[in-house]
Amino acid sequence: MTATMTSKGLEGIVAAETRMSFIDGEKGVLEYVGIAIDDLARNSSFEETVFLLWNQRLPSRSELDAFCKDLRARYELPAGMEQRIASLPKEAQPMHMLRTMVSSLGMFDPSPNAVDVPTARQKALNILAQAPAIVAAFDRSRRNLPYVKPDPSLSFAANFLYMLNGQKPTPTMERAFDACMILHADHGLNNSTFTARVIASTLSDVYSAITGAIGSLRGPLHGGANEDVMRMLAEIPSAADCERFIQEKLAKKAKISGFGHRVYKSYDPRATYLKTLAKQLAADTGNQDLYEKSSAIERVMLREKAAKGIYPNVDFYSATTYHCIGLKLDLFTPMFALSRIAGWAGHVLEQLGDNRLFRPDAEYVGPHGVAYVSMSER
Ligand code: ACO
Repeated sequence: MTATMTSKGLEGIVAAETRMSFIDGEKGVLEYVGIAIDDLARNSSFEETVFLLWNQRLPSRSELDAFCKDLRARYELPAGMEQRIASLPKEAQPMHMLRTMVSSLGMFDPSPNAVDVPTARQKALNILAQAPAIVAAFDRSRRNLPYVKPDPSLSFAANFLYMLNGQKPTPTMERAFDACMILHADHGLNNSTFTARVIASTLSDVYSAITGAIGSLRGPLHGGANEDVMRMLAEIPSAADCERFIQEKLAKKAKISGFGHRVYKSYDPRATYLKTLAKQLAADTGNQDLYEKSSAIERVMLREKAAKGIYPNVDFYSATTYHCIGLKLDLFTPMFALSRIAGWAGHVLEQLGDNRLFRPDAEYVGPHGVAYVSMSER
């Protein structure tokens, strides 16, 4: 096939089929397998949502129990991994650490290259189950605290917070974190998911696909924005200063982190849920100032930019939410990754199930017919 059109950034190009998430960016709709994201955030659990994404249907009680049991049996890191994490530089950035350690999981797998769908699914489940232990182990190691072994009696959300903090979370914090995991689990062919599918399409391996996706996610135009939002909130003294702060940024044509989206031209439905959650958690944890600053920024941005289709995205209120859950700033993007592994893996399985090598064309815009000039004559 000859190339017929150019789309910088592949905007508007449909490059894959998926049965997992549906997005209507104009109407602000996000569904996982047809179920509205708000409905899932209110009523489902992360584990049930992963089952839904990977099987395209909700599980029965016994199926969900079996899935949770299987996931929990894989929480433990491979032998030697904990020491490996403890030997890493304590100043390392957690996303660089996570990318490297998820990649290293492939070296503990006796058959890392298997790409038949049932085997790839087992590898995906391992990565999903073990990534939280990697993040928690690293964070405790850099604080000179001992490793906390995973507790297979706990949910994905509670187990992570337990391994991080050394104590079980309150039901409110577990629920809040679980909702964040649900909201971030999948989102069409976003940049990191596309990365995962591109890597899978060479029939490389699941570890490489997820590792590449983590590298993509950390960029400030993608999942790294939640950390930039928090830095911005910390920089603004109070809600009364937001108008001036934002106007100065906009006057310099700077982008405001946590706003705008390639697909949503209306309110991101994940931000709608997170706004309510952030408000509640901020009140519960004495962080009202963060919520007030966020809503003051939102008011200015809606006044200035809603006409251009720029609204809060998922990263805007997740910053306040994660802060209230007690997570350190540089763990915000890793939290996004822990959840999105579900989506990346689901897309890798879809890709492997109906593979076609990704190989777009580049339009050559350089010169032709140029004679080679020897070094002495240049
Ligand atoms: N603040 C101010 N203006 C903005 C913003 C913003 N956050 N986002 C877009 N705009 C403006 C641009 O300046 C541009 O204006 P112009 O037409 O006058 O030049 C217009 O809106 C279109 O912006 P693009 O950058 O071309 O839109 P694109 O679809 O490429 O960008 C993106 C999407 C990268 C997310 C962008 O909105 C952005 O940089 N936002 C800030 C970073 C962020 O929050 N990223 C997280 C996205 S969600 C996620 O990945 C999980």
